[in-house]
Amino acid sequence: MLDRNKQTNTGVKSSEVIRFHNVCLTIDNTQLIDNINCVIHQKGKIVVMGPNGAGKSLFLRLLAGLLKPTSGNIICAPNFCRQDTLPDISMVFQKPVLLRRSTHANVAYVLQRQNLSKTDLSSKIADALIDARLDQKALTQARRLSGGEQQRLALARALVVKPKILLLDEVTANLDPASTHIVETMLHEAAAEGTKIVFITHDVRQAKRIADEILFIHQGRVIAHNPAREFFRDPGSNEAQAYLDGRVPNQQMKEM
Ligand SMILES: Nc1ncnc2c1ncn2[C@@H]1O[C@H](COP(=O)(O)OP(=O)(O)OP(=O)(O)O)[C@@H](O)[C@H]1O
Ligand SMILES: [Mg+2]
Repeated sequence: MLDRNKQTNTGVKSSEVIRFHNVCLTIDNTQLIDNINCVIHQKGKIVVMGPNGAGKSLFLRLLAGLLKPTSGNIICAPNFCRQDTLPDISMVFQKPVLLRRSTHANVAYVLQRQNLSKTDLSSKIADALIDARLDQKALTQARRLSGGEQQRLALARALVVKPKILLLDEVTANLDPASTHIVETMLHEAAAEGTKIVFITHDVRQAKRIADEILFIHQGRVIAHNPAREFFRDPGSNEAQAYLDGRVPNQQMKEM
């Protein structure tokens, strides 16, 4: 067993998977991410919250390695790979991105690099489709699935490779309560099996259901990163309180 607090030669402790150190992102002379310092630990579910345009999706793309910081560093644990040859990170977007193939073939596609036996491949795909309640739609073309079914397929495909981190950007924004419940169950099960979940949502009730930690972003800065219970008891800033109350920060209700 590794010492939880042992520092590795990359500067990342063994309980951590990724560390942001003074991360900034500037595009077209606009600073969109402003000096983020935070640590993503191996265990648990982080919910990322913050107003529209705060920088949540950019943060997720930096985490995934899809964007490079303009300054600062994103340091990964030594046994952690952000390249797509070894998918330690999977990402699911609000609008599912699927192949023009059947539901079954979409899941099979991401497993092809694993050189599984036919039996293992079939059983992994079958389990993934059952978890996503898509086993009855295995032969349906992915593009013919409903929006919610497509999103469950995107999630099944992301999870079947057992990533170390799963990044989700408002994946239930267009889903009905039943599909949302299926997705949340899949996430809880994945987290219990050791996948780190980083989940963006604007749904406060959903955040309370899912989150172990809340990371609150405002104007490109992380202004809270706390255990969820603590955050919801005391968000710790006018900006976060205003967000939870559904009002613009600093806007006081005028006495009539
Ligand atoms: N490629 C880009 N070039 C220029 N500006 C960008 C680019 N991508 C994002 N932005 C800007 O960066 C800011 C943060 O964008 P981001 O998509 O991360 O917001 P968000 O917190 O995910 O918001 P939402 O809740 O609306 O999804 C926005 O003002 C956006 O216009
Ligand atoms: Mg976004």
